[in-house]
Amino acid sequence: MLNFEDTTPVKPMPQAAPQSAAAPLSAALTGIHDTRRIRAEDKRIINGGADVNQLVPFKYKWAWDKYLNACANHWMPQEVNMNRDIALWKDPNGLTDDERRIVLRNLGFFTTADSLAANNIVLGTYRHITAPECRQYLLRQAFEEAIHTHAYQYIVESLGLDEGEIFNMYHEIPSIRDKDEFLIPFIDTLCNPDFKTGTPEDDQKLLRSIIVFACIMEGIFFYVGFVQILALGRMNKMVGAAEQYQYILRDESMHLNFGVDLINQIKMENPHLWTSEFRVEIASLIKKAVELEYAYAEDTMPRGVLGMNASMFKEYLRFIANRRCQQIGLDPLYAGANNPFPWMSEMMDLKKEKNFFETRVTEYQSGGALSWD
Ligand SMILES: [Fe+2]
Ligand SMILES: [Fe+2]
Repeated sequence: MLNFEDTTPVKPMPQAAPQSAAAPLSAALTGIHDTRRIRAEDKRIINGGADVNQLVPFKYKWAWDKYLNACANHWMPQEVNMNRDIALWKDPNGLTDDERRIVLRNLGFFTTADSLAANNIVLGTYRHITAPECRQYLLRQAFEEAIHTHAYQYIVESLGLDEGEIFNMYHEIPSIRDKDEFLIPFIDTLCNPDFKTGTPEDDQKLLRSIIVFACIMEGIFFYVGFVQILALGRMNKMVGAAEQYQYILRDESMHLNFGVDLINQIKMENPHLWTSEFRVEIASLIKKAVELEYAYAEDTMPRGVLGMNASMFKEYLRFIANRRCQQIGLDPLYAGANNPFPWMSEMMDLKKEKNFFETRVTEYQSGGALSWD
C-alpha cells in the first residue's frame, strides 16, 4: 500500500547518456571501433574491421550478384501440383518396392538435412563472416533452406507418409545417421558460442567447417538423392516431387558455388591458412565423404533400379569429388573418373545454353510450374 507520508527519498531513474547526432553506434552493433567512413578495400571476409551494417561500397560483387540471382529464382513448394504423385503412390502397382524405398530414404535424409543446413548458417557461419555482401547472401540462403525443409515436409504430407518414421530416419537408419554424424562436429565448431576466429588455428577451423558444409554436405551428400529422384522424374514417375527437387537442385548449385567463392576468397585473403597439412586433411575428409555417400547409395539401392545401380554411383561420386577438389584448388583424388549421369552434370553446372534448367528460367522466375520433357 502506498503511504503518501512516506518521506523516503526517491531514487533517481538511471539516465541514458546524452547522445549527439554524431555519436557513434555501439561497437557491439557495428562490429567496429573506428567510425571513419568505410572503404571497399577495408572489407574482409573474416576478421574484418569494417562496419557489417554497411552493405555498400561493394567489394564482393559476386556475393551480391548471387543474392540477386537467388531472389530472381524464388519459388514455393505449394506451387507444385502433387496430384499425380499422390495417385501413383496410392496405386499398389504404381511403383516398385525399390522405387518406394528410394523415395522414403530420400525424404528421411533431406527432411532433417536442410534444417541442419539452416541452423549451421544462422547459428554458425553467419556471425563469423564480416563481409555484409556475403551476409546478405547467407540470409537468402537460410530462407532457401527453410523452403527446402518445407518442400520435403510438403511431399511427406501430400503422400500421407508416416512423419515419425521419416523425420527420425536420421537417428534410425545407419546410412543416413553416419552422414549426419560426420557433419555434426564441424557444425558444432561454428555454433559453439565461445568459438571466435582471429588466430590461424581458429581461422582454419572456420575454413574447414565451411569446406565441409559447402563442398561435402551440399556438394556430395545431396547428390545420390538428387540423381535418384530426378531419375524417377525422367521416367515420368513422382513428377511433382521431381519438380521440387529440380528447384532445390538449382538453389543448391548456387549455395555450392557461393561456398566455393567464399572459400577461395578466404584463401586469397589468408594464404597462411592453406598449408600442405591442411590440404591433406581436406582431401582425406572428401575421401571419407565419398565412402559415406557410397554406403548411402548401396543402402538405398540394394538392386539395380531405374537403369541405375550402386556401382554407377561409385564412379559418379568420384567424378563430383574430383570436381569439388578442383573448385577449391586441390588435386583430383580419383584419376580418370567419368560421369555416368551426363544429364545430371548439365543440371548441376547450369552452364550449357540448353539444359534442363536454363530453357525454363523464365518460367521459374515468374513462379510458373515446370513441365517434364
Ligand atoms: Fe537446401
Ligand atoms: Fe543449401
